[in-house]
Amino acid sequence: MLPSELVTYKKKSQKIIALTAWDSISGSLAEHSGADIVLVGDSLAMVCLGYKSTLPVTLENMIYHTNAVSRGFSKEIEEQSLLVCDMPFLTYQCGENKAVEYAGKIIKNTYAKAVKVEGADPEVQNVISRLIRMGIPVMGHLGLTPQSYLNLGFKQQGNNLESHEKIKRDALTLEKLGCFSIVLEHIPELLAKEIQSELEIPTIGIGAGKFCDGQVRVTADLLGLNDKQPPFCRPIIDGKKLFGEKLKEWVAAEKLS
Ligand code: KIV
Repeated sequence: MLPSELVTYKKKSQKIIALTAWDSISGSLAEHSGADIVLVGDSLAMVCLGYKSTLPVTLENMIYHTNAVSRGFSKEIEEQSLLVCDMPFLTYQCGENKAVEYAGKIIKNTYAKAVKVEGADPEVQNVISRLIRMGIPVMGHLGLTPQSYLNLGFKQQGNNLESHEKIKRDALTLEKLGCFSIVLEHIPELLAKEIQSELEIPTIGIGAGKFCDGQVRVTADLLGLNDKQPPFCRPIIDGKKLFGEKLKEWVAAEKLS
């Protein structure tokens, strides 16, 4: 699927599902699930590389992991889920030329068909319109933007009038700039609903309620593999406990055999 095709999902009220992946096993699981989008999110810094935030992850890490994810895909390229790669911290905040160079490296060296960037500050707006003019599709990301956690924390955004209005304005701006969709993370459900109804491009929510055009989840959270779970993602299994216990049982049995 191409990024530009996603808007037809919204027109047909067809729900969009996105899952994150970070290696070939999670890529294969995400593809097998039927997810429309596989996002190599910079959350891989935390769920796969053991960092405490997304800030340390590098462009090289993102390219390496995006290639591992696509090696886990088994379908023909035209049939594959839309592969999107996050631009890591400080690869698009230091000027348009650098952003084009770094996003270009992702597009040239992986099978990702789009990049995702966080926020809509004036510098980021310039970068987004330049990337799109250069032929690189961009997914936006508003609300809780983990790359800004030193300023904003890891808490819900949009819960006072000023922040509510800013997120709405930013969403309209991102659409005008040409983003093909926007992730809305950890904002009040009614704000997400307003944005969803005002935009033509799809909104994809995480911790943003049920009114978005789609939902995205960090697969490791969904499978309960992490020690710390975000409050807005209920795991579908207690993966850490389940796999941990089974491995322990196997090791104990092998030691006795
Ligand atoms: O990095 C990531 O996994 C993300 C999702 C939370 C949308 O940006």
